[in-house]
Parts: sequence; structure tokens; C-alpha cells
Amino acid sequence: MFVVSAHTHDDIDWAARLSAMRRLDLLERECLASVAARITEHLPDSATVIDVGCGAGGMSAALAAALRRRGGGTLILVDAVDELLAAASEAAVAAAAMPTPTAAEVRVETVVADVGTVDLHEMVPPADLIWASAVVHHLPDQQAAIARLARVLRAGGRLAVAEGGLETRCLPWDVGVGEPGLEQRLNAARNDWFAELRATIPDAVPMPYGWTTALDRAGLTETGSFSYLIDHPAPGDSTVRDFAAERLAWLAEVTGERISDLDRAAVRRLLDPGWPEYLGARDDVFLLFARTVHHGRLP
Ligand SMILES: C[S@@+](CC[C@H](N)C(=O)[O-])C[C@H]1O[C@@H](n2cnc3c(N)ncnc32)[C@H](O)[C@@H]1O
Repeated sequence: MFVVSAHTHDDIDWAARLSAMRRLDLLERECLASVAARITEHLPDSATVIDVGCGAGGMSAALAAALRRRGGGTLILVDAVDELLAAASEAAVAAAAMPTPTAAEVRVETVVADVGTVDLHEMVPPADLIWASAVVHHLPDQQAAIARLARVLRAGGRLAVAEGGLETRCLPWDVGVGEPGLEQRLNAARNDWFAELRATIPDAVPMPYGWTTALDRAGLTETGSFSYLIDHPAPGDSTVRDFAAERLAWLAEVTGERISDLDRAAVRRLLDPGWPEYLGARDDVFLLFARTVHHGRLP
């Protein structure tokens, strides 16, 4: 397949993250359905909704299902990476075809675009709702990106930006190998890695204030936030254990030399089926984190 992707500003191979993103979508499915119901509640009939940085399409599917339940509309998926757009489109089209009492039509469209630079309002119709989850923090000028997204809104439309929340936790404090506190040290090292990644994004602009302030500065009103909790308690099922293993391997990869040899050895044992501490055979693995949704309305 010939794949054309738009430019992203970090060094992350997003297409390679597809299976991890799909697994997380599965674990977030119920929460995403209730967030989608909440943010689509006051939409007008035949609304236009845009999922920016849609990834593997977990929320795209939830938004398609919510639109279908409330009488139909148009869902536009935007991402810089063609493989992810294709996956998200497949998920959204399947959700839009689910039987509902109204059987209303939901049109699903895709746009390949680098939202760090393009003026999306020249590429898509005015939106009643824009959802942008975990994408704006990957863009060089986050405030400018939010202002550009706000320009895509129709008067009265809403922008919902999911950013931050509480750090992901999957492991007990003492995993029985190495020093206790492994996951906390990995998360701290990951934060250092991300700070460095942001600092090396060409033309990166600091945004030394919070997301609702950014929405205010983009001209939006009625700004506020809410959070949702992803809670799969121990003993987690195989999807939770697979997610935890994939995350641990990713954390070890991105943190590299930032963690000690002892911690790297502990990670290797946790990921190796030959050791008794192996993650895949444990009954104390869980998934717990929170995401925060910041929202505002164009007057
Ligand atoms: C962390 S994932 C978030 C996916 C999904 N929204 C979620 O919350 O699970 C970030 C997504 O943003 C996309 N992305 C990164 N930089 C982008 C850019 N400059 N323009 C458009 N999409 C971008 C990636 O391809 C990826 O799908």
C-alpha cells in the first residue's frame, strides 16, 4: 500500500503505536462512550463533529455511535498518519452502522493534516464539536494550535481538549525484583524524556499555564474541565496484562539511559516468561489512570 502521511513534529513513530493504541481504546471503551454521550448531549440536529488526532479511533467510534443515537450527522476524522486514519475510519464506520432505534445516518470523512501548521478551517466545514485528545501537547505551539482549532468552530460550537490527568499505574509498588518503586521511577524518567522531546521540537513554544487558560485565550467562553477514571482493578485480565507489558517495554525504550541498570534488569525479568515475576502470569497487575477534558464554547 502506498501511504501518504502528513508531517508530525516529534520523533514518534505513530503508525508503530497502532496496536498499543487499539488495546488502550478497548480498555477505555466504556468511559469513552459515556464521555461521548456527555459532550454530544447539547449538539444541534445533523451536527458536524471533528476528532482531531484520532489515533486508532476509540473515541471516533464512540462519537459515531453517539451521533447515530441522536439522529445522525457528520464525523470528520483528522490525523497526520494515514495508517491511523484508516484504522479510525474503519472503527467509526462500524460504529455508525450499529443498529439503533433511529437508524440515522452518520457520514464519516477523513482528512490527513498536520494540525501543528495547517489552517483546518480551510479544509473542513464549521464544527459543532471538536474533540482533540492527547494530540495538542505534541504540537510546537500549543496555544496557536488551540486558537486555530477554535477558528474551525461554528458560533456556539464547543472545543474539548483531553490533556493531562493522573499518571498511568499498572504495577504494585514492590514487584518482587529490584528496588520497590520501579513504576514510579519509570514514570518520572518518562516525564524527563517528554520534556526533552518537547524542547527539541523545532519552533517549540512554551505554554506556561493551564489548558482552560489556553481555551480562554483562544476566545472561548464557559470554559471548564472534568476528568474520567479508567479503573481495571487487579487481577487484570489478559488485555490489562498485555497493555501493562507493552507499556513497560515502551517505558524502558523511551527512558533508555535515564533509568539504572538495576531497574532495566527488573524490567527484563518482568517481560520474560522464563522468570517467576513475569507480568503475563501475575494476578496483581491492574490499570488505573485519569484523563482530564478541558472544554470551552465559541460565543
Ligand atoms: C497520543 S495519540 C492520541 C490518540 C487518541 N486521540 C487518544 O486520545 O487515544 C496522538 C495522535 O495524534 C496524531 N498526531 C501527532 N502529531 C500530529 C499532527 N501534527 N497533526 C495531526 N495529528 C497528529 C498521532 O498520529 C496520533 O494519532
